[in-house]
Amino acid sequence: MKGLILSGGKGTRLYPLTYTRAKQLIPVANKPILVRVIESIRDAGINEIGVVVGQTAPEIMEALGSGSKWGVQIEYIPQESPDGLAHAVKISEDFLQGDSFVMFLGDNVIQGGISSLIRDFANHDWNSQIVLKHVSNPSAFGVAQLRADGTIERLIEKPKEPPSNLALVGIYMFDHHIFEAVHAIKPSWRNELEITDAIQWLIDHGYTVSPHVHDGWWIDTGKPNDMLEANCHVLDEIEPRIAPDAVIEGSEVDRRVTVEAGAKIVNSIVHGPTIIGENTVIENSYIGPYTSLYHDVTVQNCEIERSIVLEHSGICDLDARLHGSLIGRNVSIQHKVERPRTLTMNLGDYSNVWMI
Ligand code: DAU
Repeated sequence: MKGLILSGGKGTRLYPLTYTRAKQLIPVANKPILVRVIESIRDAGINEIGVVVGQTAPEIMEALGSGSKWGVQIEYIPQESPDGLAHAVKISEDFLQGDSFVMFLGDNVIQGGISSLIRDFANHDWNSQIVLKHVSNPSAFGVAQLRADGTIERLIEKPKEPPSNLALVGIYMFDHHIFEAVHAIKPSWRNELEITDAIQWLIDHGYTVSPHVHDGWWIDTGKPNDMLEANCHVLDEIEPRIAPDAVIEGSEVDRRVTVEAGAKIVNSIVHGPTIIGENTVIENSYIGPYTSLYHDVTVQNCEIERSIVLEHSGICDLDARLHGSLIGRNVSIQHKVERPRTLTMNLGDYSNVWMI
């Protein structure tokens, strides 16, 4: 079996962060989502992985390289424009060479990995297996309607009036029959070749598509709040550890905090679950639960909770506590001391600021 990760697309819902960075490379608990996806596929025993890349290809290729760092072999499959998930499958035909494969959307984070799903698929003669999850906002996803016996009646992409609250999770298993489907279907109203339509085609043509309802958490990290939510879930599950060369002085750091190599925490309080990245420095500050500070961040005289701060950013001397925030790379946030005491901002396009 092979793996196919979809990492093209634009990521407009995560602007401004995704102006300059592929959304799949944004870290959750200090590890890029794409790396989490690669590890899940590898841990299910699959080593040959195709990664579909779009306009952010150079950055993704630089981050993942040959895949050897994770013990896998990566082949990159360029997609000229994001013409849909089924289009991504279509252009991967040469790489897949008729093998069965698991397709994993590069912006999905799921609890518990995919080993048992892959085992189930290998042990049955299904043509496809899809993963479903009960959600409160089904219109934002592909939606499945099941019959009383649990088989799939129909699948619809982002319906205005969803027939159920069962969303399609971005993890799909297929055998080679999916190619008949992706060649047969036509673009949808949003001009994309939808994988949902391709799976419906399989069902309509008598192929077996088995639904698995996932009962752990699952996040499609489309919007900033989803990133924070995924960060909370993953932080809840990681095994905390303090790197031997981390420096902790005059500080209270509880047992659910991970401190990575070279980090320094001085005169501060850090409550977990939280992760402090490599060479990050925290002084005279409070870092609350569910916070991920990536590498080379500086925090002085501040309070931060339930937030993600990316590399090389500095946050100093704030009066109010930062909460529910997603801060990009090389960002500087500071208290203005000189007069006039105005608010002074230098924000990129599509930035959001909430003030009190
Ligand atoms: O996350 C689950 C949902 O993913 C499903 O419920 C939907 O049925 C499915 O269509 C998909 O919907 P999204 O609107 O969330 O897909 P998105 O455009 O965000 O793309 C998902 C990933 O695939 C993302 O990492 C970008 C990549 N992609 C997307 C397109 C359209 C490609 O590599 N190529 C593409 O052409």
